[in-house]
Amino acid sequence: MKATATANANIALTKYWGKRDKKLMLPNNGSVSMTVDGMHTKTTVEFSPSYEKDIFIINGKEIGEGNAYDKTVKHLDLIREKAGIREKAKVMTENNFPTAAGLASSASGFAAITLAASKAAGMNLDKRELSIIARRGSGSASRSIEGGFVEWQKGEKEDGSDSYGVQIAPPDHWGFRMIAVITSTAQKKVKSTAGMAQTVDTCPYYKDWLATVQGDIDAVKQGIADKDFTRVGSTAEYNALKMHATMITTKPPIIYWNDATMRIMHSVMGWRDSGLESYFTMDAGPQVKIMCLEKDVGEITKRLKDIEGIEDVVLCKPGEAARLVDDHLF
Ligand code: DP6
Repeated sequence: MKATATANANIALTKYWGKRDKKLMLPNNGSVSMTVDGMHTKTTVEFSPSYEKDIFIINGKEIGEGNAYDKTVKHLDLIREKAGIREKAKVMTENNFPTAAGLASSASGFAAITLAASKAAGMNLDKRELSIIARRGSGSASRSIEGGFVEWQKGEKEDGSDSYGVQIAPPDHWGFRMIAVITSTAQKKVKSTAGMAQTVDTCPYYKDWLATVQGDIDAVKQGIADKDFTRVGSTAEYNALKMHATMITTKPPIIYWNDATMRIMHSVMGWRDSGLESYFTMDAGPQVKIMCLEKDVGEITKRLKDIEGIEDVVLCKPGEAARLVDDHLF
């Protein structure tokens, strides 16, 4: 009853922001992402009668209480219920990137635990079922079950059975790259869950976000199909700015950017004007993900060295789907 899985993080090209059902984690709008190979989570789960309570160890540190522990137990409960088992579990998980700094650790984390725990509980679920369960842990995790370019379909049904991630292009489809630029590894002040709820409740422009997001999804999907970098990059950048506009105009305002975030955004716009085509996107944190073509990675990485306030740079290619592996963490 032990299994280990790895899952990659994903970065949204058109964002998920706002829920229509908080319990089932159903989104107000669909989204499209790229699963990224540079940032991943590895998780081992073992169910055993010898555990008196669920044990959760993240990056070598036992988390015995609090939000992260409660969410993990809740997720294990979902899987136990589906598998018809009662044993408590030991969960050991490792991220190769900073946790909770707006770098999608919950996406790779819940994708990995879903796959490892369902297997450890004796189930062989297909990707649709895995994505639906991963979604219950964190919405964006529904997209990390698949590799390459993925659409999380909003779905219409009340039970959420049609709200899951579907691959729209495989990892080797084209030379689209993301350079994750880390400007702070501090834990973010407002987590996505709280930030999006506050936006839905108080932002006067949220309705405009919802009115325009499907157009962005259609444009990004067509752009990916046509390998049209300009279309994908420009639509993704604008979509991110629209989402941040809704965050900035909630009450109280949520501003995730720092000085370095702004410097990078302005640099990317300047590079573009001078012929080095690149775009940026940001999530619920100060990191900037630069979108570019493979041929320009070297030049962009070189130029980033001159920008003040950058802590780390992670080059990301389109990554593979979540998968089971043999080498357990314990
Ligand atoms: C800004 O999936 O972290 O990164 O569903 O509440 O766990 P919960 O939120 P989460 O939100 C991600 C928001 C985003 C945009 C995106 O990845 O689509």
